[in-house]
Amino acid sequence: MAKEIKTTINNKEYKIEVPPQMTLLELLREKLIMTGTKEGCGNGECGACTVLLNDKPVRSCIVLAHEIDGKEVVTIEGLKDTGDFKEIKDAFIAEDAVQCGFCTPGFVMAIKALLTRTKTPTNEEIKEALGGHLCRCTGYESIHNAVKRLVK
Ligand code: FES
Ligand code: FES
Repeated sequence: MAKEIKTTINNKEYKIEVPPQMTLLELLREKLIMTGTKEGCGNGECGACTVLLNDKPVRSCIVLAHEIDGKEVVTIEGLKDTGDFKEIKDAFIAEDAVQCGFCTPGFVMAIKALLTRTKTPTNEEIKEALGGHLCRCTGYESIHNAVKRLVK
């Protein structure tokens, strides 16, 4: 049975009916037409669908929509007009860390979460934050270097 949830997505409050099996990714992409969050593997393994749930990065393909009841979600659409996004984007460009861009929204959300947690992450913390995010075309080193550029 569909359930009504109350949630805040990108600073906007929503009351929405969600079917029990609907994932957060489906809610974002199919119901709210927020297509910046990408669907890759669909089973929690590639990181393309990463969004922030109460400031923590989650893989939206394995979170059920009803689990966001009472919580706050930020997607790449909510970040894109902020200074943080501009800084991350500039670092990616400077380090040649984007090719097709499919994986990029997921990486950006993971980096945003990392830099909210700590302004001076160690190499290990950067590796851990980016771990499990798959990219088929850009070297992982350039993405790692983009994060290091941000913390210099
Ligand atoms: S689409 Fe969600 S982790 Fe790959
Ligand atoms: S830039 Fe193409 S998958 Fe990462």
